[in-house]
Amino acid sequence: MIVGRRLDTGAPLTGRAERDEPDFGATDRFGFPVIDPASHIARARSTDPAERFLRRAYNYTEPDPRRTTGEDSGLVFLAYAADPARQFVPVQQRLDDLDRLNEWVTTIGSAVYAVPPAAPQGGYTGQSLLEES
Ligand code: HEM
Repeated sequence: MIVGRRLDTGAPLTGRAERDEPDFGATDRFGFPVIDPASHIARARSTDPAERFLRRAYNYTEPDPRRTTGEDSGLVFLAYAADPARQFVPVQQRLDDLDRLNEWVTTIGSAVYAVPPAAPQGGYTGQSLLEES
């Protein structure tokens, strides 16, 4: 309910398979939306092509006897974007305004890195930034 997808298959609550398109207009027999408009996918999804970016998540769990759960678990969220201010920040802002996932997440760090293009054949990483073409 919080994410808007099924835990076992990853399918949206309105679909059967992970790649099925979520139907945000679908309602149940009481007339309530099947996918909560405040769910993570409803809030994170953008129809604006200018706001699209690549995501890569790394989840981790490590033993930590100092915690009541006995472990430290979380997710390192990476977003790859040519222009973070245009692509990433509007989505982040929307999730900050409202996202049911927020109740379960504590942000502990954040950073922005510049990633140069891959090295061309016979060249070196960052060459296009350091030399005139
Ligand atoms: C602990 C933090 C987070 C968790 C556990 C989490 C989890 C998830 C899950 C389970 C999905 C659905 C599966 C998928 O499409 O991969 C998803 C989708 C998504 N998340 Fe997150 N997420 C987190 C943080 C973020 C942040 C910080 C952003 C961006 C600011 C973000 C943006 C998105 C987007 C754009 C989608 C795809 C929505 C769609 O088009 O269906 N997420 N996330």
